[in-house]
Amino acid sequence: MDSYFLDWANLLLRWAHVVTAIAWIGASFHFVLLDNSLTRPDSDELKGKGVDGELWAVHGGGFYHSNKYMVAPRWRPLPENLHWSYWESYSTWLTGFGLLTVLYLFNAGSFLVDRNVHAWAPSAAIASALTFLLLFWIVYDALCRTLGRGPNGDMVVGVAVFLLVVTCAWCVCHLFAGRAAFLMMGAMMATAMTANVFFWIIPGQRKVLAQLRAGQEPDRIHGIRGKQRSVHNTYFTLPVIFAMLSNHYGFLYQGADNWVALIGVMLAGALIRHSFVSRHRAHVLGTRTPWEHAFIGVVILMGVLIGRMPRPPEASAAVPPAAPVAATATGAAPSAAGSAAAGVAAAVATPGSFASMKAVVDQRCVLCHNAQVQNKGIELDRPDLIKQHAQEVFQQAVLLRNMPLNNATGITDQEREVIRQWYDAGAAID
Ligand code: HEC
Repeated sequence: MDSYFLDWANLLLRWAHVVTAIAWIGASFHFVLLDNSLTRPDSDELKGKGVDGELWAVHGGGFYHSNKYMVAPRWRPLPENLHWSYWESYSTWLTGFGLLTVLYLFNAGSFLVDRNVHAWAPSAAIASALTFLLLFWIVYDALCRTLGRGPNGDMVVGVAVFLLVVTCAWCVCHLFAGRAAFLMMGAMMATAMTANVFFWIIPGQRKVLAQLRAGQEPDRIHGIRGKQRSVHNTYFTLPVIFAMLSNHYGFLYQGADNWVALIGVMLAGALIRHSFVSRHRAHVLGTRTPWEHAFIGVVILMGVLIGRMPRPPEASAAVPPAAPVAATATGAAPSAAGSAAAGVAAAVATPGSFASMKAVVDQRCVLCHNAQVQNKGIELDRPDLIKQHAQEVFQQAVLLRNMPLNNATGITDQEREVIRQWYDAGAAID
């Protein structure tokens, strides 16, 4: 019953999270487009009002004319009714943190901890996950404040932040289950994005507004800081969305060197975003879009794709390892090894047979998918149910390699191959 309510919390939080994230990212994309598409106003009237840039747009049957004032309008005081954008960001973080809690922190034993990666207590994993979220922000913020002052400040900060992300990716991938590690990296960066809005961008804007309303010259530092953080948020967006979606794809987040794949795809995302940001300006200036960044991003993606390609199990099941000998020789061999060997041996006899496939499922899946424990409503302890879920079993265990979760039951590549052969042969159960 508990898990029923948790699943509901999961569903509702996820729904809200996706909606708020769309609102936030949509607003962010829109303002990046706006900022990069502005042209100098051509009418004397606008120039007289102090307008620095304008954009004409058509949308939904109407024409929109946006004007940007770098400081403030000269022709009138700022209106009381000023639209602010921050709830999109805060609510994305709040729902995201709720989802992380319901899904990963409440189930830390299964989702956060993978004993093959790092064997530690769920409570230690939870404490460390929360520390990572906080620490990433503290270090990132310190880098922005201390390194951003010199002539190439933005560049130096950019490189430092990239190195911070690489270091953190390495750490989380060596501590948490792969799936959680990728998500944690996204959550760390997303926390920094919201903290940028909460601690710097919005307070800076409030100070500028107060100074303007008091008839004072606004302090330029707020604008400069706000811009720096806002640019970081722009380049974090695609990497963060990738990290959030990655948990459906076991072939990416599992296994050694998963942190390299994580960095590779995130870097590709930032490069691709750069081409799109530049494209707006290129349109206005009539120059060429620097697609080379996106191109390099795609090359990196291809590199990750090739690097993560599952190696076909050598000689497949055709030459079973010496396991049966070991099992019989020691007599005390763990039953897992014994029946795995039996499964493989049976597959050799009749490739694609249901008996050999079922031996694998009994050994590697039923523990978490039976009449009492039905993760995601999947029960695999009866032939008819295996048949019913054949496509999902194939997808989760063979294609995506998401299952067994964190490979808790130690499935081998040969055994995945046994499932594949059974599925390819028509997934019959007799
Ligand atoms: C250690 C426990 C555990 C083991 C072992 C395990 N699973 Fe799962 N399985 C889960 C959990 C937990 C979920 C729900 C994951 C989620 O919420 O994303 C799940 C979900 C699934 C799903 C549904 C996936 C979806 O997103 O729709 C399928 C199908 C599945 N498992 C098949 C298998 C197969 C096949 C095996 C054996 C090769 C297996 N599982 C072994 C825990 C396990």
